[in-house]
Amino acid sequence: MSVHAPLADAPAAGADNGRYDGASMDAIQQHYDLSNDFYALWLGRSMAYSCAMWSGPEDDLDAAQLRKFDYLVEGARATGARRVLDVGCGWGGLRERLVGTHRVEQVVGLTLSDSQAEWVRARASDGVEVHVQDWLDHTPTEPYDAVISIGAFEHFAREGLTRAARVAAYREFFTRCRGWLRPGGRIAIQTNIKGNNVRMDRQTVADLLFIIERIFTESEIPALSEVIQGSERIFDVVSVRNDPDHYARTCAQWLDGLRRNRERALELVGEEQGAEYERYLSATVGHFERRHLGLARLLLEAV
Ligand SMILES: C[S@@+](CC[C@H](N)C(=O)[O-])C[C@H]1O[C@@H](n2cnc3c(N)ncnc32)[C@H](O)[C@@H]1O
Repeated sequence: MSVHAPLADAPAAGADNGRYDGASMDAIQQHYDLSNDFYALWLGRSMAYSCAMWSGPEDDLDAAQLRKFDYLVEGARATGARRVLDVGCGWGGLRERLVGTHRVEQVVGLTLSDSQAEWVRARASDGVEVHVQDWLDHTPTEPYDAVISIGAFEHFAREGLTRAARVAAYREFFTRCRGWLRPGGRIAIQTNIKGNNVRMDRQTVADLLFIIERIFTESEIPALSEVIQGSERIFDVVSVRNDPDHYARTCAQWLDGLRRNRERALELVGEEQGAEYERYLSATVGHFERRHLGLARLLLEAV
Protein backbone atom coordinates (compact mmCIF):
# COMPACT_ATOMS: atom_id res chain seq x y z
CA MET A 1 0.00 0.00 0.00
CA SER A 2 1.45 3.35 -0.94
CA VAL A 3 0.07 6.46 0.65
CA HIS A 4 1.51 9.84 1.52
CA ALA A 5 0.98 9.67 5.27
CA PRO A 6 0.01 7.06 7.85
CA LEU A 7 -3.59 5.87 7.55
CA ALA A 8 -3.96 5.38 11.27
CA ASP A 9 -4.44 8.15 13.87
CA ALA A 10 -2.45 11.25 13.02
CA PRO A 11 -1.92 13.57 15.98
CA ALA A 12 -3.74 16.88 15.77
CA ALA A 13 -0.59 18.86 16.55
CA GLY A 14 -0.95 22.61 16.50
CA ALA A 15 -4.51 22.94 17.76
CA ASP A 16 -4.95 24.83 21.03
CA ASN A 17 -6.89 22.07 22.72
CA GLY A 18 -5.29 19.15 20.91
CA ARG A 19 -8.23 19.08 18.48
CA TYR A 20 -9.00 21.29 15.56
CA ASP A 21 -12.08 23.22 16.35
CA GLY A 22 -15.09 22.66 14.14
CA ALA A 23 -18.77 22.82 15.08
CA SER A 24 -19.53 20.30 17.84
CA MET A 25 -21.62 17.17 17.34
CA ASP A 26 -24.34 18.77 19.49
CA ALA A 27 -24.52 21.83 17.27
CA ILE A 28 -24.61 19.71 14.11
CA GLN A 29 -27.30 17.43 15.53
CA GLN A 30 -29.44 20.38 16.59
CA HIS A 31 -29.76 21.26 12.92
CA TYR A 32 -29.60 18.00 10.99
CA ASP A 33 -31.48 15.79 13.47
CA LEU A 34 -34.47 18.14 13.48
CA SER A 35 -36.68 15.75 11.49
CA ASN A 36 -35.97 13.70 8.37
CA ASP A 37 -39.61 14.07 7.32
CA PHE A 38 -39.35 17.85 7.57
CA TYR A 39 -36.28 18.02 5.31
CA ALA A 40 -37.90 15.56 2.88
CA LEU A 41 -40.75 18.06 2.36
CA TRP A 42 -38.52 20.56 0.57
CA LEU A 43 -35.10 19.18 -0.36
CA GLY A 44 -36.25 17.28 -3.42
CA ARG A 45 -35.86 13.66 -4.46
CA SER A 46 -32.07 13.45 -4.02
CA MET A 47 -32.30 14.86 -0.46
CA ALA A 48 -29.23 16.92 -1.36
CA TYR A 49 -28.85 19.74 1.16
CA SER A 50 -26.33 21.71 -0.88
CA CYS A 51 -26.22 23.96 -3.91
CA ALA A 52 -27.35 22.37 -7.18
CA MET A 53 -25.77 23.02 -10.58
CA TRP A 54 -28.33 24.56 -12.92
CA SER A 55 -28.45 24.50 -16.68
CA GLY A 56 -30.94 26.80 -18.40
CA PRO A 57 -34.26 28.27 -17.28
CA GLU A 58 -36.28 25.07 -17.78
CA ASP A 59 -34.09 22.95 -15.50
CA ASP A 60 -35.58 21.33 -12.39
CA LEU A 61 -34.10 20.85 -8.92
CA ASP A 62 -33.66 17.07 -9.12
CA ALA A 63 -31.82 17.20 -12.45
CA ALA A 64 -29.67 20.09 -11.20
CA GLN A 65 -28.70 18.16 -8.05
CA LEU A 66 -27.62 15.13 -10.08
CA ARG A 67 -25.62 17.40 -12.43
CA LYS A 68 -23.81 18.78 -9.36
CA PHE A 69 -22.99 15.26 -8.13
CA ASP A 70 -21.71 14.29 -11.60
CA TYR A 71 -19.54 17.40 -11.89
CA LEU A 72 -17.82 16.70 -8.56
CA VAL A 73 -17.56 12.93 -9.13
CA GLU A 74 -15.98 13.38 -12.57
CA GLY A 75 -13.75 16.18 -11.27
CA ALA A 76 -12.52 13.92 -8.48
CA ARG A 77 -11.93 11.19 -11.11
CA ALA A 78 -14.13 8.90 -9.03
CA THR A 79 -16.06 7.25 -11.88
CA GLY A 80 -15.33 3.51 -11.82
CA ALA A 81 -13.29 3.87 -8.61
CA ARG A 82 -13.11 1.16 -5.99
CA ARG A 83 -13.29 3.28 -2.84
CA VAL A 84 -14.58 6.83 -2.36
CA LEU A 85 -14.90 8.81 0.88
CA ASP A 86 -17.86 11.21 1.23
CA VAL A 87 -17.12 13.61 4.11
CA GLY A 88 -20.42 15.03 5.35
CA CYS A 89 -22.62 12.56 3.47
CA GLY A 90 -25.98 13.99 4.53
CA TRP A 91 -28.89 11.79 3.50
CA GLY A 92 -26.80 9.80 1.05
CA GLY A 93 -27.71 11.28 -2.34
CA LEU A 94 -24.10 11.31 -3.54
CA ARG A 95 -23.61 7.70 -2.44
CA GLU A 96 -26.58 6.60 -4.55
CA ARG A 97 -25.21 8.42 -7.58
CA LEU A 98 -21.69 7.02 -7.08
CA VAL A 99 -22.90 3.44 -6.81
CA GLY A 100 -25.84 3.59 -9.23
CA THR A 101 -24.38 5.66 -12.08
CA HIS A 102 -20.62 5.87 -11.57
CA ARG A 103 -20.04 2.17 -10.76
CA VAL A 104 -18.12 2.87 -7.54
CA GLU A 105 -17.71 -0.32 -5.50
CA GLN A 106 -17.46 1.09 -2.01
CA VAL A 107 -18.56 4.44 -0.64
CA VAL A 108 -17.73 5.38 2.93
CA GLY A 109 -19.89 8.20 4.27
CA LEU A 110 -19.20 10.31 7.36
CA THR A 111 -21.84 12.41 9.10
CA LEU A 112 -22.34 13.75 12.61
CA SER A 113 -26.10 13.22 12.39
CA ASP A 114 -27.74 10.04 13.72
CA SER A 115 -30.93 10.74 11.74
CA GLN A 116 -29.03 11.04 8.48
CA ALA A 117 -27.13 7.80 9.15
CA GLU A 118 -30.39 5.98 9.92
CA TRP A 119 -31.92 7.33 6.70
CA VAL A 120 -28.95 6.13 4.62
CA ARG A 121 -28.85 2.69 6.24
CA ALA A 122 -32.59 2.21 5.73
CA ARG A 123 -32.31 2.86 2.00
CA ALA A 124 -28.97 1.37 1.08
CA SER A 125 -28.44 -2.06 -0.36
CA ASP A 126 -25.42 -4.20 0.60
CA GLY A 127 -22.03 -2.67 1.15
CA VAL A 128 -23.14 0.64 2.63
CA GLU A 129 -20.71 2.08 5.12
CA VAL A 130 -21.94 5.16 6.92
CA HIS A 131 -20.32 6.30 10.15
CA VAL A 132 -21.52 8.87 12.65
CA GLN A 133 -18.00 10.14 12.98
CA ASP A 134 -16.03 13.36 12.79
CA TRP A 135 -13.45 13.32 10.00
CA LEU A 136 -10.89 14.03 12.75
CA ASP A 137 -11.59 10.55 14.14
CA HIS A 138 -11.64 8.72 10.82
CA THR A 139 -8.92 6.06 10.51
CA PRO A 140 -9.42 4.03 7.33
CA THR A 141 -7.51 0.79 6.94
CA GLU A 142 -7.27 1.10 3.15
CA PRO A 143 -6.63 4.16 0.96
CA TYR A 144 -9.32 5.91 -1.03
CA ASP A 145 -9.28 6.63 -4.76
CA ALA A 146 -11.09 9.94 -4.27
CA VAL A 147 -12.55 12.15 -1.55
CA ILE A 148 -15.67 14.28 -2.07
CA SER A 149 -17.09 16.73 0.46
CA ILE A 150 -20.20 18.76 -0.32
CA GLY A 151 -21.57 21.44 1.97
CA ALA A 152 -19.68 20.26 5.06
CA PHE A 153 -16.56 22.44 4.99
CA GLU A 154 -18.66 25.30 6.42
CA HIS A 155 -18.67 23.35 9.71
CA PHE A 156 -14.95 22.60 9.92
CA ALA A 157 -13.99 25.83 11.75
CA ARG A 158 -15.97 27.05 14.72
CA GLU A 159 -17.43 30.54 14.66
CA GLY A 160 -15.12 33.22 16.09
CA LEU A 161 -11.73 31.60 15.47
CA THR A 162 -8.89 33.73 14.12
CA ARG A 163 -8.04 33.42 10.46
CA ALA A 164 -4.84 31.56 11.40
CA ALA A 165 -6.80 29.03 13.48
CA ARG A 166 -9.31 28.50 10.66
CA VAL A 167 -6.56 27.94 8.13
CA ALA A 168 -4.90 25.50 10.55
CA ALA A 169 -8.15 23.52 10.83
CA TYR A 170 -8.55 23.40 7.04
CA ARG A 171 -4.89 22.42 6.66
CA GLU A 172 -5.46 19.55 9.06
CA PHE A 173 -8.43 18.41 6.98
CA PHE A 174 -6.38 18.49 3.78
CA THR A 175 -3.45 16.74 5.45
CA ARG A 176 -5.72 13.93 6.63
CA CYS A 177 -7.35 13.62 3.21
CA ARG A 178 -4.04 13.40 1.42
CA GLY A 179 -2.92 10.73 3.87
CA TRP A 180 -6.01 8.68 3.01
CA LEU A 181 -5.69 9.07 -0.76
CA ARG A 182 -3.65 7.12 -3.26
CA PRO A 183 -0.82 9.19 -4.78
CA GLY A 184 -2.19 11.70 -7.30
CA GLY A 185 -5.72 11.19 -5.93
CA ARG A 186 -8.17 14.06 -6.05
CA ILE A 187 -10.54 15.76 -3.68
CA ALA A 188 -13.64 17.63 -4.81
CA ILE A 189 -15.02 20.20 -2.38
CA GLN A 190 -18.12 22.33 -2.55
CA THR A 191 -18.53 24.99 0.11
CA ASN A 192 -20.15 28.33 0.76
CA ILE A 193 -17.60 31.11 0.94
CA LYS A 194 -17.74 34.62 2.33
CA GLY A 195 -18.39 37.24 -0.31
CA ASN A 196 -15.81 39.70 0.93
CA ASN A 197 -16.17 42.22 -1.88
CA VAL A 198 -19.56 43.77 -1.10
CA ARG A 199 -20.48 46.00 1.83
CA MET A 200 -23.41 44.66 3.87
CA ASP A 201 -26.46 46.64 4.92
CA ARG A 202 -27.98 46.37 8.42
CA GLN A 203 -30.66 43.88 7.40
CA THR A 204 -28.05 41.53 5.91
CA VAL A 205 -25.94 41.72 9.07
CA ALA A 206 -29.04 41.01 11.21
CA ASP A 207 -30.04 38.05 9.01
CA LEU A 208 -26.53 36.57 9.08
CA LEU A 209 -26.41 36.89 12.87
CA PHE A 210 -29.80 35.22 13.11
CA ILE A 211 -28.52 32.34 10.95
CA ILE A 212 -25.37 31.95 13.08
CA GLU A 213 -27.38 32.06 16.33
CA ARG A 214 -30.47 30.06 15.39
CA ILE A 215 -29.79 27.91 12.32
CA PHE A 216 -26.12 26.93 11.95
CA THR A 217 -24.78 27.44 15.45
CA GLU A 218 -21.01 27.32 16.00
CA SER A 219 -20.20 27.31 12.28
CA GLU A 220 -18.35 29.94 10.27
CA ILE A 221 -18.17 30.09 6.50
CA PRO A 222 -14.59 30.22 5.14
CA ALA A 223 -13.09 32.78 2.81
CA LEU A 224 -11.94 31.22 -0.46
CA SER A 225 -8.37 32.34 0.27
CA GLU A 226 -8.46 30.40 3.58
CA VAL A 227 -9.50 27.20 1.84
CA ILE A 228 -6.74 27.58 -0.75
CA GLN A 229 -4.14 28.53 1.87
CA GLY A 230 -5.09 25.49 3.93
CA SER A 231 -4.42 23.25 0.94
CA GLU A 232 -1.06 24.70 -0.12
CA ARG A 233 1.80 22.20 -0.46
CA ILE A 234 -0.70 19.37 0.10
CA PHE A 235 -2.95 19.70 -2.96
CA ASP A 236 -2.62 21.46 -6.31
CA VAL A 237 -5.64 23.47 -7.38
CA VAL A 238 -7.06 21.97 -10.58
CA SER A 239 -10.05 24.30 -10.86
CA VAL A 240 -12.26 26.67 -8.86
CA ARG A 241 -15.77 27.85 -9.77
CA ASN A 242 -17.83 30.40 -7.92
CA ASP A 243 -21.57 29.91 -8.55
CA PRO A 244 -23.55 32.19 -6.19
CA ASP A 245 -26.52 32.42 -8.56
CA HIS A 246 -26.82 28.63 -8.49
CA TYR A 247 -27.26 28.73 -4.72
CA ALA A 248 -29.73 31.63 -4.86
CA ARG A 249 -31.86 29.53 -7.25
CA THR A 250 -31.49 26.38 -5.12
CA CYS A 251 -32.56 28.20 -1.93
CA ALA A 252 -35.48 29.80 -3.77
CA GLN A 253 -36.66 26.33 -4.82
CA TRP A 254 -36.30 24.98 -1.27
CA LEU A 255 -38.23 27.96 0.10
CA ASP A 256 -40.96 27.39 -2.45
CA GLY A 257 -41.17 23.71 -1.44
CA LEU A 258 -41.29 24.61 2.25
CA ARG A 259 -44.07 27.16 1.69
CA ARG A 260 -46.10 24.73 -0.42
CA ASN A 261 -45.87 22.22 2.45
CA ARG A 262 -46.18 24.73 5.30
CA GLU A 263 -49.03 23.00 7.10
CA ARG A 264 -47.23 19.67 7.33
CA ALA A 265 -43.92 21.40 8.11
CA LEU A 266 -45.45 23.18 11.10
CA GLU A 267 -46.92 19.90 12.34
CA LEU A 268 -43.43 18.39 12.23
CA VAL A 269 -41.29 21.16 13.72
CA GLY A 270 -43.72 23.69 15.22
CA GLU A 271 -44.62 27.29 14.38
CA GLU A 272 -41.44 28.92 15.62
CA GLN A 273 -38.98 26.67 13.84
CA GLY A 274 -41.05 26.61 10.65
CA ALA A 275 -40.99 30.41 10.56
CA GLU A 276 -37.24 30.47 11.29
CA TYR A 277 -36.49 28.15 8.38
CA GLU A 278 -38.57 30.33 6.04
CA ARG A 279 -36.67 33.39 7.22
CA TYR A 280 -33.28 31.67 6.82
CA LEU A 281 -33.99 30.40 3.30
CA SER A 282 -35.50 33.67 2.16
CA ALA A 283 -32.57 35.72 3.54
CA THR A 284 -30.06 33.33 2.01
CA VAL A 285 -31.48 33.82 -1.49
CA GLY A 286 -30.67 37.52 -1.10
CA HIS A 287 -27.20 36.88 0.36
CA PHE A 288 -26.18 34.97 -2.76
CA GLU A 289 -27.91 37.36 -5.16
CA ARG A 290 -26.11 40.34 -3.60
CA ARG A 291 -22.78 38.42 -3.40
CA HIS A 292 -22.52 38.52 0.39
CA LEU A 293 -22.00 34.79 0.00
CA GLY A 294 -20.37 32.80 -2.77
CA LEU A 295 -20.44 29.11 -3.67
CA ALA A 296 -17.09 27.52 -4.41
CA ARG A 297 -16.62 24.21 -6.20
CA LEU A 298 -12.96 23.19 -5.99
CA LEU A 299 -11.11 20.31 -7.58
CA LEU A 300 -7.72 19.58 -6.02
CA GLU A 301 -5.05 16.98 -6.75
CA ALA A 302 -2.60 15.54 -4.21
CA VAL A 303 1.00 16.73 -4.65
C1 LIG B 1 -25.27 20.66 4.58
S1 LIG B 1 -25.04 18.96 4.96
C2 LIG B 1 -24.54 18.39 3.34
C3 LIG B 1 -24.85 16.94 3.15
C4 LIG B 1 -24.54 16.36 1.79
N1 LIG B 1 -23.14 16.42 1.47
C5 LIG B 1 -25.38 16.99 0.71
O1 LIG B 1 -24.83 17.60 -0.20
O2 LIG B 1 -26.59 16.85 0.78
C6 LIG B 1 -23.52 18.93 5.93
C7 LIG B 1 -23.06 17.55 6.35
O3 LIG B 1 -21.76 17.65 6.96
C8 LIG B 1 -21.71 16.80 8.08
N2 LIG B 1 -20.60 17.25 8.94
C9 LIG B 1 -20.42 18.46 9.51
N3 LIG B 1 -19.27 18.49 10.23
C10 LIG B 1 -18.70 17.26 10.10
C11 LIG B 1 -17.52 16.66 10.60
N4 LIG B 1 -16.66 17.33 11.37
N5 LIG B 1 -17.25 15.37 10.26
C12 LIG B 1 -18.11 14.66 9.48
N6 LIG B 1 -19.26 15.19 8.96
C13 LIG B 1 -19.55 16.46 9.28
C14 LIG B 1 -23.11 16.91 8.66
O4 LIG B 1 -23.37 15.86 9.56
C15 LIG B 1 -23.94 16.85 7.36
O5 LIG B 1 -24.10 15.51 6.98
